[in-house]
Amino acid sequence: MSEGIITMAYIIASILFILALGGLSNQETARKGNYYGMAGMAIALVATIAGIVTGNYLLMLGCITLGGLVGFILAKKVEMTQMPELVAILHSLVGLAAILVGFGTYLDHSVEFTGAELTIHNVEIYLGVLIGALTFSGSVFAYLKLSAKIGGKPLTLPGRHFFNLILLIAAVYFLFAFIGADSSDAGLNFLIIMTGISLLFGIHMVMAIGGADMPVVVSMLNSYSGWAAAATGFMLSNDLLIVIGALVGSSGAILSYIMCRAMNRKFLAVIAGGFGTSSGGDSGQASQGDAGDVQSIDAESVALLLNGAKKVMILPGYGMAVAQAQHSVFEMSRKLREQGVEVGFGIHPVAGRMPGHMNVLLAEARVPYDIVFEMDEINEDFPNVDVSIVIGANDIVNPAAQEEPNSPIAGMPVLEPWLGKTTVVLKRSMASGYAGVDNPLFYKENTRMLFGDAKVSIDDVLKNL
Ligand code: TAP
Repeated sequence: MSEGIITMAYIIASILFILALGGLSNQETARKGNYYGMAGMAIALVATIAGIVTGNYLLMLGCITLGGLVGFILAKKVEMTQMPELVAILHSLVGLAAILVGFGTYLDHSVEFTGAELTIHNVEIYLGVLIGALTFSGSVFAYLKLSAKIGGKPLTLPGRHFFNLILLIAAVYFLFAFIGADSSDAGLNFLIIMTGISLLFGIHMVMAIGGADMPVVVSMLNSYSGWAAAATGFMLSNDLLIVIGALVGSSGAILSYIMCRAMNRKFLAVIAGGFGTSSGGDSGQASQGDAGDVQSIDAESVALLLNGAKKVMILPGYGMAVAQAQHSVFEMSRKLREQGVEVGFGIHPVAGRMPGHMNVLLAEARVPYDIVFEMDEINEDFPNVDVSIVIGANDIVNPAAQEEPNSPIAGMPVLEPWLGKTTVVLKRSMASGYAGVDNPLFYKENTRMLFGDAKVSIDDVLKNL
């Protein structure tokens, strides 16, 4: 394949990736965005295999088949609730690839560089391996934390910031040692030492972060994996990898920023770690409240409340995903709308366990997009809402974020159903949510608790509607 055709294919693939990112920013166009991404990746793969790879076809095709098969099986098997850990472990592969390409490029002497070119080439290798190693170890530990294979409590070693600083200084020191190495063996040793330092940094960075901040870390590792891919692109002189890496790197960074804003956390405070005490796996072991202090309600009375309502707002959270209640919730909303009730869905930006978690579930259940609202769009509407139904949500509807300055979630923007006439909360117990804090909403005068699995509860309400 001629160089012109490869360049053309790479440009088309780059455009498709940009269109994919654009499409993914809105749920109505997300499906199209995915198709653009798949088409871009297919074109990129074909152009690279046919145009750039020159040998070892059998080995490569074997690896592609094996990797594709593993990916296919994983994608088929993974539960919606396990998505964040799958994403984390996939990022680790990008980091590992960057390490291997870095070492491979350093050991490959087929092209001899001299002078400034050699220095630039070595800096590219060093940075690629450095970012790759911290992405790799950080992602593996993020996976272990998210899948509750290790504890989720932040590891706050005494003097941990000082420890990080030492690692950074050592990494810079070995950069100069690596560039100035007089033999390739000495250089290799420096590269290996730096890889160890970077792996340690990745582990320490993720271990210091508490459960509640893990999604930001996953998105940040996503960004790192992009920069690792871009660094690999520089090492291999592959423009497409540089472009894709930069796209992933910057979009991951923007997403991390948006998530921090939605949780009212400073990005640097997240990186510095130490916040969030829950395990991050299951919601709420810490049950501070007593069910005796709240007003419970049964499904029949909820149906009566809904029958008398003009405007109903449904606020889903992580528990809806656990209960897989989205289809029943859709049925309930359809029935209410048929009866002339105005129904809306309010989505908090960090509801569930990953960005867009609720949107994906509601789209799966075919809830029309035009009745699904972002938090900012509907928060002012609550005084006009007759009944808000909180389905397996907790932190995202916690008034403590506004009322208690010392709460760990103080300042986090939240949905405000308590400003409406009545709030019905569906959950199984008085257990706390992800952030591990009690929720004063449950004790409010106009709140009713419907205890039980969300799907069972909604099905019961449906029967009585
Ligand atoms: P949470 O605060 O975690 O609350 C979920 C609630 O659902 C729990 O209190 C739990 O109470 C209930 N629940 C669990 N299973 C249930 C079931 N089968 N039926 C009924 N209820 C069930 O969730 P949220 O309000 O969606 O808030 C999200 C939290 O996760 C925030 O703190 C956010 O910062 C954090 N976070 C967000 C993300 C992203 S990016 N979305 C990622 C990770 C973490 P019971 O046990 O009593 O039933």
